[in-house]
Amino acid sequence: MSDYATLTYDGNTYEFPVITGSEGEKAIDISTMRAKSGIITMDYGFSSTGSCSSTITFMNGEKGILRYRGIPVEQLAEHATFKETAYLLINGRLPNRKELTRFSVMLNDHSLVHEDMQEFYKSFPRISHPMGILSSMVNALRSFYPELEKTDEEINITMTRLLSKIRTMAAMAYKISRGHKLVYPRPDLNYCANFLNMMFDSPVRPYDIDEDLVQALRVFWILHADHEQNCSTTAVRVVGSGRVNLYAAISAGIAALWGPLHGGANQAVIEMLSEIVRDGGKVQKVIERAKDRNDPFRLFGFGHRVYKTYDPRGQIIKKMADRLLEKRQVSDPLLDTAKELEIAARKDDYFIENNLYPNVDFYSGIVLRSIGIPTNMFTVMFAIGRLPGWISQWKESIDDSNWKITRPRQIYTGPTCTDYTPLDKRP
Ligand code: SDX
Repeated sequence: MSDYATLTYDGNTYEFPVITGSEGEKAIDISTMRAKSGIITMDYGFSSTGSCSSTITFMNGEKGILRYRGIPVEQLAEHATFKETAYLLINGRLPNRKELTRFSVMLNDHSLVHEDMQEFYKSFPRISHPMGILSSMVNALRSFYPELEKTDEEINITMTRLLSKIRTMAAMAYKISRGHKLVYPRPDLNYCANFLNMMFDSPVRPYDIDEDLVQALRVFWILHADHEQNCSTTAVRVVGSGRVNLYAAISAGIAALWGPLHGGANQAVIEMLSEIVRDGGKVQKVIERAKDRNDPFRLFGFGHRVYKTYDPRGQIIKKMADRLLEKRQVSDPLLDTAKELEIAARKDDYFIENNLYPNVDFYSGIVLRSIGIPTNMFTVMFAIGRLPGWISQWKESIDDSNWKITRPRQIYTGPTCTDYTPLDKRP
């Protein structure tokens, strides 16, 4: 079978090589198209455009498959720690015992944040959104840790430092926003328990670490750890392609994730469900709004550029929400509303014809509420989970011999050549 594609236009025929991935996916390599034909392609939102080849994450949107370095995410959620998953994504394989111990020691060694950074935090208005604070403070890390990222060892320290500090920085944003005393990381606690302790421990009420909540957070972060070339990962790769430092590239990823069409959807889902409950539980009204082409409102937590079936992460999180609430013998009206909304939407032709299913964000807010995370910190939780993915994608891009600065073309549709009009000659 030919591994070439031909394009015929204006009486000319051009040939382009076809790339085949390890899972049989095909891509036409058009990198020589403009040089050969003077023509470029156009693909708003890059729905049919690949930006790179990658060995990190495989998704099959039609079958609802998600694997990190070939391992199904369901198995990692069942058996792995978040630390192991981060190591797997960044280094390409699971760590052996010695490597895992060294990684744990490095994470502990880098968990503290420079005391002077607290002054930056305290300068933000109390109502600042923690995603804006986190994006700014991650960028500021370069000022406190200016080590170059030239050798593998320096890059490894920088990646591990950021993986460790992001928990401390997120918890700092929360504590300072409430005017509470900071809680420092503890070397005796694992990655997830340490974060919960930094968030909720206090001198007046010591935090009792609940293993159920630690496990829920472990699974939540594993499920969010990477997702191939999504909006925020593309931001990290694009910003990183200018050869800027890792902190600046990750800061751009955090900013991109903040949007309600992307990682900000988990907060938007809870706000939407709360509004439905306040409005008397009229889920059909929300569905009609989501279908209205003249209404910019979208059903948050539904739909996906890649998944045209149930998001495998959403299925795991939905089960986890049920288990958590049942075990704690509590009910959450928002979970009941979410289930009612899902049933109604999945019965509606618009959602069926457009293959719109719950995505990772639809039930994740219910789990985060059960853990005690405040709503405005939901997307920060997504960012902490996604950090190993962003780092692994950044590392893969700087190591890729094909990688170069990202600079797309455009089709210009503005005014053709026009002369300057002196001020006194303008209408
Ligand atoms: C994440 O890319 C990733 O991998 C992202 C992510 C990750 O892990 O990084 O999975 C995390 O961002 C999940 C998505 C969270 N966002 C939301 O829940 C916001 C609500 N969802 C939509 O805004 C939308 O579904 C997107 C943004 C997620 C996807 O947008 P697309 O690619 O434009 O959706 P599509 O092409 O499949 O849409 C088909 C049609 C379109 O109608 P037309 O414009 O063709 O007439 O369905 C419509 C869409 O407008 N549609 C919706 C809808 N989602 C799509 N209509 C109403 N409500 C929705 N939720």
